[in-house]
Amino acid sequence: MMLQTLRLKNFRNFKNFSLSLSGKVNVITGPNGVGKTNLLEAIFLLAKGKSFRTTSNGYLIGVPSGNSPSTGIAFIEGLVRGDNELETTLGMSLSNGSKKYLVNGKDSSYQDFRPRFHAVIFSPRDLDIIIGDPSLRRAFLDELNGDGSGEYVNISTDYRHVLRQRNQLLSRGKFSAAELDYWDAQLVDLGSAIIAERKRAVDNLNQRLDAGHLFLEYFPSPRIIKEELEQVDDWTGGKVGELFRHKLKEIVEREKEIGFTLIGPQRDELKFFGLVDSSGVKRDLAVFGSRGQQRMAVVHLKRAQLELLRAKLEECPVLLLDDVFSELDEHCREILLPIFDYQQTVVTAVSLPKGIEASMSVELK
Ligand SMILES: Nc1ncnc2c1ncn2[C@@H]1O[C@H](COP(=O)(O)OP(=O)(O)O)[C@@H](O)[C@H]1O
Ligand SMILES: [Mg+2]
Repeated sequence: MMLQTLRLKNFRNFKNFSLSLSGKVNVITGPNGVGKTNLLEAIFLLAKGKSFRTTSNGYLIGVPSGNSPSTGIAFIEGLVRGDNELETTLGMSLSNGSKKYLVNGKDSSYQDFRPRFHAVIFSPRDLDIIIGDPSLRRAFLDELNGDGSGEYVNISTDYRHVLRQRNQLLSRGKFSAAELDYWDAQLVDLGSAIIAERKRAVDNLNQRLDAGHLFLEYFPSPRIIKEELEQVDDWTGGKVGELFRHKLKEIVEREKEIGFTLIGPQRDELKFFGLVDSSGVKRDLAVFGSRGQQRMAVVHLKRAQLELLRAKLEECPVLLLDDVFSELDEHCREILLPIFDYQQTVVTAVSLPKGIEASMSVELK
């Protein structure tokens, strides 16, 4: 699939902007602060309905200073063409506190909007995925699973709701056994579905990573159910739910004491193991890897993410690369460059990165 044109009104620093893109490699250059990342953010919004760097609409709406949330309306529109040649106009209007989705000019639901355009972004903040907060790695798994699967997104949303309710109950301290049972049953059902899907995603990733050099290990809610889960062959069966339920019973007294839920996918961990020296032993990259080795692993991870989504959609998602070339060494670039050929790619950089042949380029001033 490809984005043919992008139009922005009152979006971040773009008052009125339009761009025609090529189906191959598009390069956007310009000095810092000129709006390169903002452009990728707009494309990402068309794909996901949300930003990769803010949850507040207010910051997306153009203001003269760019400092405080604005009260106007921002508008993003993109003409998208699928691999089947079908064209769709996707639009989003953003005001403070509300988002509207448009498909071919008509008001539309998020559920209708979301599956029509897909993109994978690789930005400098991804480079922290191995050493950063575990929530980054969970978010990565959720993005991987949520892309092209509305069902996973719904399950995750429902799980968050149930978790919030259960935590409120636990922190309130006074409740009946039936009340807690009610939330426990849903927590277990939804939670074990998420665990099963995350496990499947990690297995799929590992198949696409060169397992000899790099592999991921998934630790569902680590300190509590890891050991037992290791014995489970079929994660999709009821066994994960059974273990989850059992553990919940075991620790409920402790949960009542501290007032929140102690186990579940909100505490999952993901670790990266790779070769860090000539010993041939794969080690935890967060602990033993050099910065360069960690970055290389992220490049491989992003490539695998893109491939997985392509396989799932049976169509090529658009690749967005936000100023990553300045942060990567020669070796990483060599891995990244061949990926460009598969799909429409939009690259931002201060100046045209070495080795990239642009079929469309714009310089923002
Ligand atoms: N809501 C907004 N309204 C107006 N300008 C904004 C808004 N949000 C960010 N900006 C401006 O966008 C610029 C940063 O854009 P960005 O895309 O991050 O730059 P870069 O080209 O370095 O990637 C800054 O100059 C900032 O002031
Ligand atoms: Mg930028």
